[in-house]
Order: sequence, then C-alpha cells, then structure tokens
Amino acid sequence: MVCLGNICRSPMAHGLLQHKVEERKLDWEIDSAGTSGYHKGELPDRRAIACMKHHGIDITYQKSRQITYEDLHYYDQIFVMDDANLNDVMLLVKTNTEMAKVSLIMDLVEEQKLKEVPDPYFGPGDKGFERVYQMLDKATDKLLEKYDSK
Ligand code: 4NP
Repeated sequence: MVCLGNICRSPMAHGLLQHKVEERKLDWEIDSAGTSGYHKGELPDRRAIACMKHHGIDITYQKSRQITYEDLHYYDQIFVMDDANLNDVMLLVKTNTEMAKVSLIMDLVEEQKLKEVPDPYFGPGDKGFERVYQMLDKATDKLLEKYDSK
C-alpha cells in the first residue's frame, strides 16, 4: 500500500487489509510505504490512528518508510492511492513484470467513480479520514474477493 507520506492513507489501507487477512487466517504479508521519505520512522498521523481505533483497528505498530526498488520484486501487488503516487512508483519501474504489479487501489471498486483516494492530511479534519476509511474498506473487501481463492 503506497501513498505520499506513509502516515495517513497507506497506513489505513495496510491496517484494514492486515486486520481482514488475520480474520481469514491468510498467510499474506502486507506492508505500506511512502513515495517520499518526509515522515520516515514516524507513527501514522494521530487522526489516522484515531479513525482506525474508532473502527476497532490498531495501527500503532506501523512506522513510516519510503518505497524502494526491492519492494517491486518482493511484493506481488503494489496498490497506490492516487495518480501522483502512480507516476512516482512508475519512475522506479524497469520491467513490464514490475509495471504489471502496480495499480490504483480504487480500480478494484468498479462502481467507484473517484479513482483517487483524497489526501486527508491538509483537511477537512476528521471527516476526511472517515471518507478515506470508507473508500479503503470497500477496496480491501474487493481485493480479498479477487485474490483470496480459498
Ligand atoms: P499521506 O498524507 O500521503 O496519505 O500519508 C500525507 C502526509 C504528509 C504529507 C502529505 C500527505 N506531507 O506533505 O507532509
């Protein structure tokens, strides 16, 4: 799961998917990263932590890090939150195999018109985080429908 700072959207996506994967006892490895290293080593934003806690999911085990070229090999799928993230990750890509792993997370939700998860960092307060949660909850359900073959 990839966004710009790895303190708001991608930690929420990571936390949601991690929670659902554990519920289903799937042997999947989930992680998140930022295209930037602005917040390297930091916990998720306190508003992201509060929103997730409100929904019963703890994300305080996470620490921000920057995506690396190795991630494109190690992980089977790379989900990005918006077009800027997509462009930035594509700058790291060298092969068609790597390129095929990268997609906008909201592409998983066919009926969803807005294909970018809006950045809640600069506002509008808690409502922005709840909106992100609702979008990512749907997307992670679809992700499990698509990739959980059990
Ligand atoms: P995120 O939000 O990409 O969802 O983690 C942001 C966090 C920090 C900044 C921008 C977006 N920033 O400019 O510091």
